[in-house]
Amino acid sequence: MNFELSEEHLAVIEAAHEFAQSDLLPGVIERDTKQEFPKEQIKKMGELGFLGMMVDPKYDGGGMDTVSYVLAMEEISKVDASASIVMSVNNSLVCGGLEKYGNEEQKEKYLTRLARGEIIGAFCLSEPEAGSDATSQSTTAEDKGDYYLLNGTKNWITNGNSASVYLVIAQTDPSKKHHGINVLIVEKETEGLMVGKKEDKLGIRGSDTHSLMFTDVKVPKKNRIGKDGFGFHFAMDTLNGGRIGVASQALGIASGAYERSLAYSKERKAFGVEISKHQAIQFKLADMATQIDAARLLCLRAAIEKDQKKDFTTASAMAKLFASKVAMDVTVEAVQIHGGYGYVKEYHVERLMRDAKITQIYEGTSEIQKIVISRELLKL
Ligand code: CAA
Repeated sequence: MNFELSEEHLAVIEAAHEFAQSDLLPGVIERDTKQEFPKEQIKKMGELGFLGMMVDPKYDGGGMDTVSYVLAMEEISKVDASASIVMSVNNSLVCGGLEKYGNEEQKEKYLTRLARGEIIGAFCLSEPEAGSDATSQSTTAEDKGDYYLLNGTKNWITNGNSASVYLVIAQTDPSKKHHGINVLIVEKETEGLMVGKKEDKLGIRGSDTHSLMFTDVKVPKKNRIGKDGFGFHFAMDTLNGGRIGVASQALGIASGAYERSLAYSKERKAFGVEISKHQAIQFKLADMATQIDAARLLCLRAAIEKDQKKDFTTASAMAKLFASKVAMDVTVEAVQIHGGYGYVKEYHVERLMRDAKITQIYEGTSEIQKIVISRELLKL
């Protein structure tokens, strides 16, 4: 076992770090306050290859491994978790799902543009009445011969308004339960698709979260991914990869808060010395660094298992479960170390604390990760 990163991996960290510092850091507080989508920054992210990192170069992707993706996600999330969730959804859920299960025509038409970052995509599984209980889809995709008629509502969709392409999970044959679910590629401009209001969120406020309403939307059959009834398997398998992205996002939120706390503790004085000289602060920093290291190792193990084409279901669920808890714990401590300054926007850690919470909720809550892990352990 070797814990050294390769030259290529170090170069990925450097590139992501530079981009985050030069393009994401300026304006991140303002975008959070105004709930402003980082449009220009996402465009540049695409140009730099961060939106289709793992896609095969034959579809215009970066051809990199999942380890590189984890490293880039950590660096970008340290600074702007709103931008990093756009990156995560596009890479893992949209490009990842399309590359693995789409046919050549679908890849040519959609994957290439998504991998180049010319357009971004969204993954539409959650519904007003079906979040964790994802098999209970009420959105219907009625089989009408050469097309599907899509009706229903999807909720909390990341990239909901800014996406050009949606992967929509819907029920075609309720008698077959989750084996009757399909996944359809829906273009934004399709008649009958309406983008609902933007959600006013606690954190990741720069990201673009909307509900979507589908009313008699006609989707050509050629836009179905995989065979009839494959949609639920597609969603579960794709989310296993997505969870590595969210785990790395949580890791980055934690390490961003830790790095700020470490620097602050060496500057801020109390009782005549820098606060880093007080054991109360030293112990907090020690706990934070240890938790972050453990989260990083879990993220990298999940990435390596994915790259080695092993079953990484448990590893990705463990990484997300643990890293999202670390993100919460570490950001709360970061605010505490900063004291009054930590409670105001200027010092960034209050935003990181708000951003951390969603990592315990989306792409499967922590409770869902425990279901996934325990079922695998017990083979239920
Ligand atoms: N990987 C692969 N397959 C899986 C799986 C996994 N992690 N979890 C379940 N499955 C498969 C099962 O093997 C089973 O397949 P078969 O019937 O073919 O054997 C099928 O899925 C149904 O599973 P269960 O019988 O266990 O169904 P259940 O209803 O008891 O539990 C669940 C399913 C695991 C709870 C599932 O509903 C789930 O993962 N829910 C969470 C959904 C989720 O993550 N939502 C996030 C929304 S997307 C998002 O947030 C994106 C964004 O914009 C940021």
